[in-house]
Amino acid sequence: MKIISTGSAAPELAVTNEMFSRVLDTSDEWIFTRTGIRSRRISTGDTALSMAARAAENAIAAAGIDRAEIGLVVCASVTNEYLTPSLACLLQRDLGLPESILAFDVNAACSGFIYALGIAQQLIPAGKYALLLGSEHLSRVTDYSDRSTCVLFGDGSGAVIAEKSDAPFHFVSGARGDSGVLYIGASPPSPNPFAPPPESSPSKLLHMDGQGVFRFAVEVMVKSVREVASRAGKALGEITHFVCHQANSRIIENAATRLGVPLERFFMNIETRGNTSAASVPIALDELNATGGLRRGDSVILAGFGGGLTYGAIYLEW
Ligand code: ACO
Repeated sequence: MKIISTGSAAPELAVTNEMFSRVLDTSDEWIFTRTGIRSRRISTGDTALSMAARAAENAIAAAGIDRAEIGLVVCASVTNEYLTPSLACLLQRDLGLPESILAFDVNAACSGFIYALGIAQQLIPAGKYALLLGSEHLSRVTDYSDRSTCVLFGDGSGAVIAEKSDAPFHFVSGARGDSGVLYIGASPPSPNPFAPPPESSPSKLLHMDGQGVFRFAVEVMVKSVREVASRAGKALGEITHFVCHQANSRIIENAATRLGVPLERFFMNIETRGNTSAASVPIALDELNATGGLRRGDSVILAGFGGGLTYGAIYLEW
């Protein structure tokens, strides 16, 4: 599989650290030195679907393809307003995509876009294009009374158009089930006359043990990047760009040091975007592409980690 175009979308409102310091006991200095974040986009009306539709339109226009030739839509998200219909199905409707299509969502939290690409490579129909997205409206599940998490997250969407190709493509993934370190609860069950009421339900807002996630993130990023480079038969020194989940600049710096790779080869836009979960890798890829950073033939490793716990990495050639 080969990516032929990228696109992204974000809400207009940029919420700076200084704006947070007016409503919370925090400071630009604390947030920036701990995370690398200065501002993030926050929805004032956008949804995961509205942002996904704009990102998809941008990617379709950049590819210059006929949307009737899209045969697969995979959307990674944990913030759709519905359990069903999926975002991918709603995009089929809103973008006017053909009905003879395979359309579904992937829930792998911040690794979701990596999982979506890995799955799509197996499913993309010959002679058709795949539309692959990560889209998150995290502000709808953020606990704005918890200063240790609310300053981290932003909203946005990223998309790519991919086609079947013999170009090198390698995917590694992992999952380590854990509902304590990072979770977002579902709605409590509706009262059921045949069952006793549930004793408790997990919170519907995002909960995270920051230090637990930090340790997990560095461990699995180093492991999955090494593994995918080895599958591709490449030394890390041969990789042009590393585009990783933008959760915390210190996680990326730590992983780069352990991998022995200069930090300049790790693309970072966390300063202005914050952590957009499944959207962060495709947004970063689009920004790198839009600024002329990607050239045909470049070796690229994408890597993600997040709730589940999940992780994954992809090697591809641009
Ligand atoms: N402003 C000021 N002080 C704060 C803030 C804040 N926004 N948040 C926490 N603090 C305080 C704490 O209350 C604590 O104070 P105390 O010592 O008086 O108790 C102190 O700062 C230190 O808190 P820690 O939680 O130990 O801070 P840490 O250095 O671990 O940084 C952070 C927290 C930034 C969350 C870090 O652990 C981290 O980045 N972890 C990874 C998180 C991550 O990447 N998550 C995303 C991956 S999964 C996904 O994307 C959904």
